[in-house]
Amino acid sequence: MTQTEFLDLPPLLGASGQVRLPGSKSISNRLLLLAALAEGSTRIDGLLDSDDTRVMLDALRTLGIAVERGDDGHCVVHGCGGRPPVASADLFLGNAGTAVRPLTAALALIGGDYRVRGVPRMHERPIGDLVAALRDIGCRIDELGSAGYPPLAIGRGTPRVDAPLRVRGDVSSQFLSALLLALPLLRAPTDIVVDVVGELISKPYVEITLRLLARFGVAVRHESWQRFVIPAGSRYRSPQRIAVEGDASSASYFLAAGVLGQQHGAGGPVRVLGVDADSIQGDVEFARVLERLGADIRWGDGWIESCGLRGGRAALAGGDIDCIAIPDAAMTLAVTALFAEAPTRLLGIGSWRVKETDRIAAMATELAKLGATVEAGADWLRVHPLAAAHWRSASIATYDDHRIAMCFSLASFGPADLRIEDPACVGKTFPGYFDALRAIARPVPVIAIDGPTASGKGTLASRVAAALGFHYLDSGALYRACALLALRQHLALDDAPALAALARHMPLRCDGSRIWLGAENVSDAIRAEAVGQAASKLAVLPAVREALLALQRSLRRAPGLVADGRDMGSVVFPDAHLKVFLTAGTAARAERRHKQLISQGISATLQAVLEDLEQRDARDTQRSVAALRPVADSLPLDNSELDVEQTVHQLLQWWRQHAAA
Ligand code: DC
Repeated sequence: MTQTEFLDLPPLLGASGQVRLPGSKSISNRLLLLAALAEGSTRIDGLLDSDDTRVMLDALRTLGIAVERGDDGHCVVHGCGGRPPVASADLFLGNAGTAVRPLTAALALIGGDYRVRGVPRMHERPIGDLVAALRDIGCRIDELGSAGYPPLAIGRGTPRVDAPLRVRGDVSSQFLSALLLALPLLRAPTDIVVDVVGELISKPYVEITLRLLARFGVAVRHESWQRFVIPAGSRYRSPQRIAVEGDASSASYFLAAGVLGQQHGAGGPVRVLGVDADSIQGDVEFARVLERLGADIRWGDGWIESCGLRGGRAALAGGDIDCIAIPDAAMTLAVTALFAEAPTRLLGIGSWRVKETDRIAAMATELAKLGATVEAGADWLRVHPLAAAHWRSASIATYDDHRIAMCFSLASFGPADLRIEDPACVGKTFPGYFDALRAIARPVPVIAIDGPTASGKGTLASRVAAALGFHYLDSGALYRACALLALRQHLALDDAPALAALARHMPLRCDGSRIWLGAENVSDAIRAEAVGQAASKLAVLPAVREALLALQRSLRRAPGLVADGRDMGSVVFPDAHLKVFLTAGTAARAERRHKQLISQGISATLQAVLEDLEQRDARDTQRSVAALRPVADSLPLDNSELDVEQTVHQLLQWWRQHAAA
């Protein structure tokens, strides 16, 4: 994979701040179609700019509808009064269900010579129930591939609506929404009745349709969500100006982020701007579900805020959650469930099977990669809490499904490394998602201390870690442990493939400042001069450095890490919060190292120690990869004239200044 094909997310401690949500996809695409079909021009403010709205806009333009985009994101659609100027067109609608379904219904009722197609996955997403309902009333539609799926060819039929139409409601509510959006085009002299067969799922999305129809002058009545009546003489009239709400499904990730930091005492507040309690989108209910699970959620005019957990709770509650009304936001719950106190069962999610991918199968597979226990059924998913010790680093496949990429980003609150594959798939509804997350995320802090041999990095780093209650990484110890094994196995110190394999697979464990290889405590053995010399030789090999990278990064855990080495600030933790380049004159360092050796009962002359230091400095600074040198954003600290206390004091002072900034 190349760099753009995945995104490595740093482990998160918490999240706080504000996010302005992009416009709702469901509202944006419905409004575009309504405005295109209405009489008069409509200015739409806050329209979502994403893959799915782009395919809708392209389709409308292909149909001859004029659309202008303003600098501030607004757009003006010049409605065609129900008759698109172009009667013969080939429409490519990507993977946008919110474009394919209503456009199919509208064009079938208008009649013409149209083709509707999409990406291969779109040709696996069912549309047969909608096609059947349209054929029943005399529209002409042919499937060009498999029966019941796009691509479709639409001809000129003779639609009649004097008897009630029947449409299934239990596969996708978009079939009903599509009919309700299209039928007013007939301007029928009598009421048009649509009966839903089977239980209607995702009612809130139908509610969005009804509300938007009303804004365009069509007041649809319904009886218990089973029978819908479009009043006689209905026709679309532009409201002239209308605004799109922020996307409530996209809000779910940020609201969840405001809760998950609580486990590290850093819960929120995270405020999403663009939705509130009056939203017409069903997915705002996600915030109420979080509230019921124990989250501290606040509501205001135009915003919702999540502020961690209520009343001393340590984790979200688990249990059964009926998700039939929040199918998209429910995916977010599948990931927050990893952090809950008890198993969480998501019910009523059968529609996941026919979305951008089979979301039940995909979520189960990817959650299992993190180490979770997951059970799945035809229309449900049970996710068990994942104990810290069982989390595994994982590379999450995203199946060209924006919501999988976005909801799994929340796994970065867990204690393992996380990679999101094909992060650009979020462009379907939220192209700027990862930037928005980065802006509110508080990554687990890292203090990187780099410097030459015997500059006192180890003492400084372990003292600072203890003072702050952070974890400590002595990265040199990893190179030394690898060198110890290499010496024991008589490997040549320039045999890069063998040494890299050794580095990747050595059974190393760091526990405070003790280093273990399997069951053997090698903390003392790795300090031998011969081992240090060998470490400095194998450390010049790029393959060895690469092999140790993941191990070093995996030690970045809440509440924070102090890491010392040569390339902590430059390569391993380039996003470290504080970078210090610690130096001391060669003479001072040689003297310290000499004293240390003598105190350990190891005899050495000062001159020999000095020469050894100079050799190692040369290798560390001149090697081709991760050479020892201060990075631009590091603070230099020369401790030739400072004692340990003074050096520690200086660093803690810098840290406090950083934390206060
Ligand atoms: O800091 P130390 O003496 O324990 O390190 C042992 C060797 O490992 C040193 O010669 C250079 C190498 N090293 C490195 O190349 N990069 C690091 N981050 C840490 C150590």
